[in-house]
Amino acid sequence: MTVLGIHHGHDSSAAIVKDGVILADVQEERFSRVKHGASLPLKSIAYCLKEAGLNSINDVDYISFSNQSNTEEIESVFGLKSESGGLKKTIKKVLHTIMRKEVYLSNMKLPIYYPDYIVRDKSKCINNHHHLSHAASAYFTRRSAEKCLIFTIDGAGDKFCTAIWTGEGSKIELQKSYYRDASIGWAYSIVTEALHWIHGDGEGKTMGLAPYGDPAKCSDELDKYFPVFKGDELVRPSSLGQDYYWNEGGSYQFHFDEAKEVEKLVE
Ligand SMILES: [Fe+2]
Repeated sequence: MTVLGIHHGHDSSAAIVKDGVILADVQEERFSRVKHGASLPLKSIAYCLKEAGLNSINDVDYISFSNQSNTEEIESVFGLKSESGGLKKTIKKVLHTIMRKEVYLSNMKLPIYYPDYIVRDKSKCINNHHHLSHAASAYFTRRSAEKCLIFTIDGAGDKFCTAIWTGEGSKIELQKSYYRDASIGWAYSIVTEALHWIHGDGEGKTMGLAPYGDPAKCSDELDKYFPVFKGDELVRPSSLGQDYYWNEGGSYQFHFDEAKEVEKLVE
């Protein structure tokens, strides 16, 4: 069985797994040269198909998406139309009746240079919960065959920020989940933005600078922004406000100290 995995979002990527063996996997940034690129992973898909010796997207048995709902670009490229497409059609019809002229509602047309990835049998397209995708990528590539607990800790994906799963045999089951107001990952990214680096890009710098910081300098300064848990219960949601995207800037000692503090809290 051949499965093509597709992620469209930050770090867009594709992979092909055949009978449990990864034949190819690549991030779109390798082709676009845009770090953490979020464009459609078209070149990644082409690369994976070629590496697996397949001529067409219709030669794979399943296409597995890493989110519960697809972006409009994905729907256009693969010829998938979700219920929102039907709803759009109805709205279009109503507006057309009222306005008595043609109405265009985000009817995305692809550029002519896009490859043909129209899926003939749409039933082979599967949308997975984003955190289940993360859990599966860790669970099915582990060395041990023992039953285990799986933690997925994300900024946010399909409304979850963190989830706890059990993995046994070929099954992964959800035990507990938390929403974005409990997101440690999001809080970490906000600190990264506050340090004038980029959300989804600069977190590695925050992590890398932490060892150079003085833990006494910013001690407890960030506590009020982070979610508080008692056991596995969220007792105080995080209060982070709106997220912003800053340009990359230089670093100085303040960065190291904040980085040290956020590292302490996350650990
Ligand atoms: Fe994620």
